[in-house]
Amino acid sequence: MFLAELHCGRVAGLGASRQEEGLGRVVAVVNQKGGVGKTTTSINLAAALAMTGRPTLLVDADPQANSTRALGFPADPDRPSIYDALSGGTHADQIRVGYPPVPHLSLVPSDTDLVGMEVELVEADEREYRLKRFLEGERELFDHVVIDCPPSLGLITINALVAADAVLVPVQAEYLALEGVSQLMQTIERVREALNPGLAIAGVLITMYDDRTNLARQVVEDVRSVFGDQVFRTIVPRSVRLGEAPSHGQPIFLYDGRSRGAEAYRRLTEEYLSHEEKGAGQGAEQPHPARTSEASAGGSLPDAVAGGSEGAGAAADRRRSDLA
Ligand SMILES: Nc1ncnc2c1ncn2[C@@H]1O[C@H](COP(=O)(O)OP(=O)(O)OP(=O)(O)O)[C@@H](O)[C@H]1O
Ligand SMILES: [Mg+2]
Repeated sequence: MFLAELHCGRVAGLGASRQEEGLGRVVAVVNQKGGVGKTTTSINLAAALAMTGRPTLLVDADPQANSTRALGFPADPDRPSIYDALSGGTHADQIRVGYPPVPHLSLVPSDTDLVGMEVELVEADEREYRLKRFLEGERELFDHVVIDCPPSLGLITINALVAADAVLVPVQAEYLALEGVSQLMQTIERVREALNPGLAIAGVLITMYDDRTNLARQVVEDVRSVFGDQVFRTIVPRSVRLGEAPSHGQPIFLYDGRSRGAEAYRRLTEEYLSHEEKGAGQGAEQPHPARTSEASAGGSLPDAVAGGSEGAGAAADRRRSDLA
């Protein structure tokens, strides 16, 4: 049902404020720790946004090219890629590719060339601004841009943080979940101070949660005690189907739209959109006032879209404040 609703176009109650402004919202999915769910989150958030009828661009900024592969694009050294986007000189139309199974979804693919890019960038002019410059035109074409970052805090990730309006931080519900996260937050703060004052925290997302373990429950408590209401209410469960979908070249909604993983990423997308509706993520230096569920843009969503008890209405109850 969700897919049917999505294919009908924009979902009632989820407005298109940024589209009215004429500029898409850019979110960087970042955690320098490997294997925490950045790619899985990027693909499925981008796909879900596109399936609501919002033109969405997924930028694979990782030399591992996992997002590119997970959408079924094989390695192709001749295909223009994010490398060309960061190098400059190649028009975006020649780099971006469509993903036909989801009509409003496009991809800037990656390639292993990007490994060299990290080194080349060190000497480049305006080295932190390359992705931002590339995305200036893309923001006029897409309502949403989702950047899948590599597991490092190198220059490619810095480029993503400079280009982004907000950062989404996936955290795996495992031992040492928060390892490195304070370093990440310091990096975000430094980028804010020096390069991108508008950079906000879209939220911290707990992934690969296994409710059978005490450890996972403890991690949720720890993450919430550190980040409070900046943690998305949606928790992504560990799900075999989410792990399988990339090898079929499909977002979870196409691979198994009824799975728990699909349900979680639908709810995440609602939360993400409801924050945007409220202006969360803009002006991160100022705490946002408390919100009420009456004010929730998601309150009028059909149940099939709103998902479980932690839908957009609950999300709208959350207050957001600056991380610093
Ligand atoms: N919720 C989940 N349940 C089960 N498997 C998952 C889940 N999320 C991700 N995975 C699997 O875990 C692995 C790591 O996930 P993913 O590639 O999304 O992490 P990543 O942070 O992008 O990794 P990297 O740092 O290497 O880029 C992948 O094989 C993925 O399919
Ligand atoms: Mg990845």
